[in-house]
Amino acid sequence: MSSSRAILLRSRSEDDFEVLFHIAADLSTWEERNAASPAPLDRESFRARLAQADAAGSGKGVRFVIDVEGAAVGSVMLFGVDELARHAEVGIALVAEARGKGIGTAAISQIVEFAFVRCNLRRLHLQVIGSNLGAIRAYEKAGFVIEGRQRQHAWVRGKYEDILVMGILRPE
Ligand SMILES: CC(C)(COP(=O)(O)OP(=O)(O)OC[C@H]1O[C@@H](n2cnc3c(N)ncnc32)[C@H](O)[C@@H]1OP(=O)(O)O)[C@@H](O)C(=O)NCCC(=O)NCCS
Repeated sequence: MSSSRAILLRSRSEDDFEVLFHIAADLSTWEERNAASPAPLDRESFRARLAQADAAGSGKGVRFVIDVEGAAVGSVMLFGVDELARHAEVGIALVAEARGKGIGTAAISQIVEFAFVRCNLRRLHLQVIGSNLGAIRAYEKAGFVIEGRQRQHAWVRGKYEDILVMGILRPE
């Protein structure tokens, strides 16, 4: 798997469930992906969460599977859509084996374009733990800039960490 292979965003199929569950239940990157405290996640709860997100409809956001040559390797989403101010939050996570190969940067760039061009959003934002240097670099490569720092805002695996707020504006 490398970044020279085709990376595309597509809708979820039942075949993707195990990969997505594996990512969602992974305690080693829990704090990178969740504001809530770490907790075990079972398949039934995750399936219910997906169903709830599906039922909320596209007005509440979109969630894509990140696909590399037919295999699901992660997901990337827009959520917290503000239809008046035209902004939304971005979230992304890849399986461990897919990280560090340019796939995250490509997927973030694709969802930025989708948000701006297809959804007519004009601003995207996100929060990232200050020590998550790979994520920060991937967001910067996709055009995000650091807009602020919430000092010692998060409790992450035994210590307080800053949370960086990053954002990107649609070019005029
Ligand atoms: C964050 C994530 C989506 C990034 O995707 P990715 O495919 O791994 O990232 P990329 O390979 O596209 O880019 C990573 C960049 O960070 C750099 N990087 C990685 N680790 C780094 C470190 N410790 N210090 C500095 N730079 C680092 C890489 O070298 C690369 O930059 P380069 O292309 O200029 O060399 C992915 O790692 C992931 O899913 N992580 C776990 C979940 C997570 O943290 N989600 C984000 C929550 S905000």
